[in-house]
Amino acid sequence: MPVLRTVKDYIRTIVDFPHEGILFRDVTTLFADPRGFRMAIDQMLHPYAGERIDKVVGLEARGFILGGAIAHQLALGFVPIRKKGKLPGAVISEEYQLEYGEAVVEIHDDAIQPGEKVLVVDDLLATGGTAEAGIKLIERLGGEIVGCAFIVDLPELGGRQKLEAMGMDVHVLCE
Ligand code: PRP
Ligand code: ADE
Repeated sequence: MPVLRTVKDYIRTIVDFPHEGILFRDVTTLFADPRGFRMAIDQMLHPYAGERIDKVVGLEARGFILGGAIAHQLALGFVPIRKKGKLPGAVISEEYQLEYGEAVVEIHDDAIQPGEKVLVVDDLLATGGTAEAGIKLIERLGGEIVGCAFIVDLPELGGRQKLEAMGMDVHVLCE
């Protein structure tokens, strides 16, 4: 009997990328596998079965791949949160700290309507800075966040506690 693989089994680790000392958890190997990708999408959706969700928001860049598939599965619209300067329309912005550096994320200022229920999606939760900035953008537009779904959490970096302290419902598939 073949041993069933879990989501974690499909994720590859690249040492010293993008900087020395970083163990980069590479989900492209998970995305490239038909069983792995489908399993990840199904498991990310599972906690939200039966819940009202109006929009799926994905964080650049791998959150677009996951968020697109999840929005399609739920027959919902998808909204991107992008790095500074990439969105063509009027935007609002938030600055944040990364595990390795600083950045700014943006959302179109008409992408979420007040009271809309939003599911936030990304591949990985490290310090939580990216997701925190994304949550602030959605809440500034009046969106109500139903949950935040990730494939990987790096627990030693404290992102999950940061988001839970903001009152977020956080779901991850593996650590
Ligand atoms: C990675 C990852 C998350 C973020 C998590 O993206 O996909 O979005 O880092 O880190 P944090 O919890 O410490 O904020 P990255 O910033 O590498 O950008 P990219 O997806 O555009 O390559
Ligand atoms: N984003 C921030 N830290 C990361 C890591 N260790 N692996 C993959 N993406 C990341």
